[in-house]
Amino acid sequence: MRDALNKIKNELGGNLEKIADLKTLDDLRVSILGKKGELTNILKAMGSLSAEERPVMGQLANEVRDFAEKSFDERKKVILAAELEKTLAEERLDVTLAGKTREQGHDHPMTIVMEDMKRLFIGMGYEIHEGPDVETEYNNFEALNIPKNHPARDEQDTFYIEGGYVLRTQTSPVQVRVMKEGKLPIRMIAPGKVFRSDEIDATHSPVFHQIEGLVIDKNITLGDLKGTLEIFAKELFGDDVITRFRPHHFPFTEPSGELDVSCFACKGKGCRVCKDSGYIELLGCGMVHPKVLRNCGIDPDEYTGFAFGMGLERIAMQKFNITDMRLLFENDVKFLKQF
Ligand code: DAH
Repeated sequence: MRDALNKIKNELGGNLEKIADLKTLDDLRVSILGKKGELTNILKAMGSLSAEERPVMGQLANEVRDFAEKSFDERKKVILAAELEKTLAEERLDVTLAGKTREQGHDHPMTIVMEDMKRLFIGMGYEIHEGPDVETEYNNFEALNIPKNHPARDEQDTFYIEGGYVLRTQTSPVQVRVMKEGKLPIRMIAPGKVFRSDEIDATHSPVFHQIEGLVIDKNITLGDLKGTLEIFAKELFGDDVITRFRPHHFPFTEPSGELDVSCFACKGKGCRVCKDSGYIELLGCGMVHPKVLRNCGIDPDEYTGFAFGMGLERIAMQKFNITDMRLLFENDVKFLKQF
């Protein structure tokens, strides 16, 4: 019995040291001190000892039990402390770490230009109208005096949809829609996307944006058109921009013209951007063709008007000094951050 008691005592220290969790510790405790534990069994066997042996063994057994209980308590404290330490380490907050910042974006250069233009025309008393991207072939072409087989259709070859629809090639059909509403006079702009089957390069894209303008009233003249566009060009590009009107042809205006502005890159001296001409073509314009007025239910003997249409990408490029249109569509943040 003495050997058994000493064995329990001697082995306990080494066994406890290896235990790192409370569950294993408790299992070991039960196996020694529990109701059916090793030590409990020994204590139960005390009765069979002789009267001389019993107090001696009893004292030893008590010592071993006290020792065991104390050892288990101490080990438990050590394990609990280690667990606390571990939790603290795992949940540690480094308050000096940089926080997650959310970068603030800003408007895309195309949006900036679009909003600038809207503000400018609203200031001159224009209303804003919109038309659908999928337009009737009639509104996109016929109503604008571009019959089937007209060569102008080649230039604006587009994406046709069954049933007489096209992805609009220009914002000009919005003119037709607004005139047909029948409310006169008209002073409106119509911004939006247009589509053509163009190859992508530095100055072309199959999807781009236009702004259309239309003014219909009594006694509107070419002088009104020129004056309006000159003010517009100066507001947009600054007072020192030089404008130039050139005659041109569009089926839906008569007479028709194009407005050029002095080149942003060389200020009119001539360079690669303006192909040495000193000017960049900005928009098409003209006096609304009497046939178009009639197609839309307006009497050309009573009302006249002017119209203009321009590509917005080109204006953004001119305004922000961008030499490749593709940059406007690629959405490279490094590029966009500059505006
Ligand atoms: N729609 C023409 C184009 O896409 C631009 C244009 C020219 C619009 C003359 C007009 C205009 O309103 O009068 O090329």
